Amino acid sequence: MSQLPARISTADHRPARAVRRMERMLSLSDFERAAARHLPLAIYGYLASVAETGASFDANFNAYQSWHFVPRSLVGVRERNIATSIMGQQWKAPFGIAPMGLAALMGYQGDAVLAAAARDAGIPFVLSGSSLTPLEAIREVNPDAWFQAYVPGEHERIDALLDRVAAAGFGTLVVTIDVVIAGNRENNTRNGFTRPLRPTLRLLWQGMTHPRWSLGTFMRTLAQDGMPHFENSMATRGAPILSRHAERDFGKRDHLNWDHIRHIRDRWKGKLVIKGLLAPEDAVTAQEIGAEAIVVSNHGGRQLDGALAPLHALPAIRAACPGLCIGIDGGVRRGSDVLKALALGADFALVGRPLLAAAAVGARAGVDRAIAILNDETRRNLGLLGLNGIQELSSRYLVPAGTPLPAAAATPAPETKAARTTGATRLQ
Ligand code: GLV
Repeated sequence: MSQLPARISTADHRPARAVRRMERMLSLSDFERAAARHLPLAIYGYLASVAETGASFDANFNAYQSWHFVPRSLVGVRERNIATSIMGQQWKAPFGIAPMGLAALMGYQGDAVLAAAARDAGIPFVLSGSSLTPLEAIREVNPDAWFQAYVPGEHERIDALLDRVAAAGFGTLVVTIDVVIAGNRENNTRNGFTRPLRPTLRLLWQGMTHPRWSLGTFMRTLAQDGMPHFENSMATRGAPILSRHAERDFGKRDHLNWDHIRHIRDRWKGKLVIKGLLAPEDAVTAQEIGAEAIVVSNHGGRQLDGALAPLHALPAIRAACPGLCIGIDGGVRRGSDVLKALALGADFALVGRPLLAAAAVGARAGVDRAIAILNDETRRNLGLLGLNGIQELSSRYLVPAGTPLPAAAATPAPETKAARTTGATRLQ
């Protein structure tokens, strides 16, 4: 079993100077731009990585732009509230932090920083199976964290991993099913990124020209916690992050099929989330097998290039699985994106790259700031849409961009809460 790092206390550390610096960040994209400057190209390239032409990555953003809001006016939005329940648990917002590998290489103790920020904000945090901090340590930081596994194709190795995750006390397991084969990310090769990283002159040069990252993250990690390893891909510790020869062991992932998920469902007693599907038929299968939730996803455009945007798959999946808890990820950068996803049938959205960028450039102060921005945007735009609660969202608040409203869309003004409870006349 892997060892816990000696200290994870910096996860809660927010120096006043860092908090002030982060106040200059006004949108989630600001963090990504800052991370592109702060991180060596190979490391930033991993964060920003997309498959092949980037068609699916672009599609994720375009899908959000392809819907416009139809706001309702003067309905009284003083009580606007974005709290929600996901799989029976209450959260303060309908979005969470997507699983992302190598967070502790991007920012010092990045996994713990993200986990602690999510804990204090009351939003879900999903620890990636490609993370560099033992899952046991993250469970201590955030008892409500979910663990995301890239399960191997061999039953005994799946069982050993599930037993470890259960023994650590995780209540929710996310199984990602769209990485049975590694996607083709040419930019990683161009930028000199490999997993593990190979020590090359090029990498050394990138480190020397990014001293804040080299000293503040990489050298500090080596000095305080030792060489990071892939801690959570399997039941036992995996390869180090920097090595001349070590190879990562992925298991026989290309053997995976739905029988493996049935097996996992039988063995895993907690909540089960299946992540990385786009076809309604697959969503139905996941629901039939007994998953509590799914995440509609094309892996942030990092796997099958040309796969459709999750937002465009969502309405059909919601129609096929009316009672299922549905999450979505890919391309969420604004509170308005979260609201559009919810209006089209999602129960929650996961946000990835910008939050990892925030951990890289601002540590805990950065992640706090990024979550606060998304919180404010979601709450503000809910009010501007004329709603008090996200549960009231539906597709009648959206119209395809550039399409005139059909005449039949004219409906009475929504009822105010007061009108509903007192039976008073509707505001017209
Ligand atoms: C891992 O899931 C990755 O997308 O790099």
